[in-house]
Parts: sequence; structure tokens; C-alpha cells
Amino acid sequence: MAAIIKTPEEIEKMRVAGRLAAEVLTLIGEHVKKGVTTDELNTICHDHIVNVQGGIPAPLHYGHPPFPKSICTSVNHVICHGIPSDKKLKDGDIVNIDVTVKKEGYHGDTSKMFVVGKPSIMAERLIRVTQESLYMAIEMVRPGVRLGDIGHIIQQHAEKHNYSIVREYCGHGIGANFHEEPQVVHYGRPGTGEALEPGMCFTIEPMVNAGKRYSKLLPDQWTVVTKDRSLSAQWEHTLLVTDDGVEILTHRDEETIPRIISHS
Ligand code: MF3
Ligand code: CO
Ligand code: CO
Repeated sequence: MAAIIKTPEEIEKMRVAGRLAAEVLTLIGEHVKKGVTTDELNTICHDHIVNVQGGIPAPLHYGHPPFPKSICTSVNHVICHGIPSDKKLKDGDIVNIDVTVKKEGYHGDTSKMFVVGKPSIMAERLIRVTQESLYMAIEMVRPGVRLGDIGHIIQQHAEKHNYSIVREYCGHGIGANFHEEPQVVHYGRPGTGEALEPGMCFTIEPMVNAGKRYSKLLPDQWTVVTKDRSLSAQWEHTLLVTDDGVEILTHRDEETIPRIISHS
């Protein structure tokens, strides 16, 4: 049941994998614009991971049925696991790009929201509140804090804005495996669940819907959409619990939150 505590050697590999995944999100930004297909974004990311980084795009052939592409691209009412396709992005689309790089046997997993052209006020607010919920959760991470505390603060923040939290998909431990224990759900009750310990690595990746929380899996067995077709946003980071706080292994320079938070 318990999370795997990483050794210092493993932590160094997690730092490398996390940095590479973050770098992909940074470099793909300039390509996310009107008229580009999500397949073209997939190819750019795939080629960079394989040819420049010497890594492996972990989503490719992952799971059952095997995921057919190297990144996930989730547009508008797609909650997560969108499959890159020949469909072109259009003005006002919101898109989550989720990148997982495996390097020297360890994984870095991260996603961010992009907007094509000018977003609606509604879309912009959904994206902002979702990122705020991730940041509020990250700011809580330190030894002794419980997973229910983390889920609770995310749920509180989203619901305060009349949004809903997707329950069928969650964050996860990460390391030599893409997905390992524990499950990190984005809702919950304070004081419940596993307590965090130094050396744990896991993701937080809230999926927030503008409408109701319910999801539907499309016949392709991967694409998850909102049942009511409302917009959905997601942000994800891979984290390391340190002795006195947290290190964001997939941190990007553009972010307002610091890479290392120390509470002592
Ligand atoms: N990156 C996703 C996550 O955050 C998992 C994608 S599985 C895939 O856990 F096969 F769709 F890539
Ligand atoms: Co993840
Ligand atoms: Co991910």
C-alpha cells in the first residue's frame, strides 16, 4: 500500500527526468497556435525527447489498448488522455499538453494549459483557478501532511468557484514506474489518508470542470470527456517531498511558484 521512498541516487535521476519533461512543455509553447494539428505537436515533442534528450516518451504504447502517441493533447471538453490527431487547433481552443519523459529508468510527468489566440473570460478563469488549486496543494506538501489534506484544499478551491473536481482520475506516485502508489486524489477530508515522508515522489494533477464532475470514456478507450461537454482544465507537476517541504521536479522558469519550498 505504501509509497516507495527514493534513494539519493534515484532522486538525482528523478530530477533529470523532471527537468527534461518541463523543457518539452517550455519549447512546445511557441508551436501551439491556430491551424497546427495536435499530431504536429506530438511529432515535435516526440522528436525532441528521442533525438535531443535521449529519452523515451512514456505514453507511447503505454497501457491497454496501447496509447498510440507520445504526448496527450486534451482540447476544450476533453478532460485528459486526448490522442493527438490531424484536427487543427482553432482560435479560442484551450489545450492541455501532458508530457512524460523516461530517462535512465525514471519518469518525469507534467502538463500545462495553452490557449490558442484569445481565450474567453470563462476559459481563462477556469485555467487560472485550476492552476491556483495545484499551487495551493504544492504549498502544503511537507512530511507529515496527509493526502486527504491535499485533496481537500484542491476541492475547496475549485468548488468555491462553482467548478467541479473529476474523481475518476488522479495523481500518482512516480519513479521507476510511470504510475505507482499512492493514488493522489484531488478531493477529500483533512486528516485522512497516507502521511507524506521525505523521499516520496508523486504527481498532483487536478482536473477541474466548468460544469458537473462526471466524465465519459470515448470508444477509443483513452479519450476522457466531460459528460455535459463543459470545458475542463488540468495542470500537473511531479514533486519530491524533502525534509522540510517540497521540490518541484518539473518546475519551469516562467512559473510564479518557486522550485523549492522550505518550511523550516
Ligand atoms: N500523463 C498521464 C498522467 O498524468 C498519463 C497518460 S497515460 C497515456 O498520469 F497513456 F495516456 F499516456
Ligand atoms: Co501523471
Ligand atoms: Co501526466
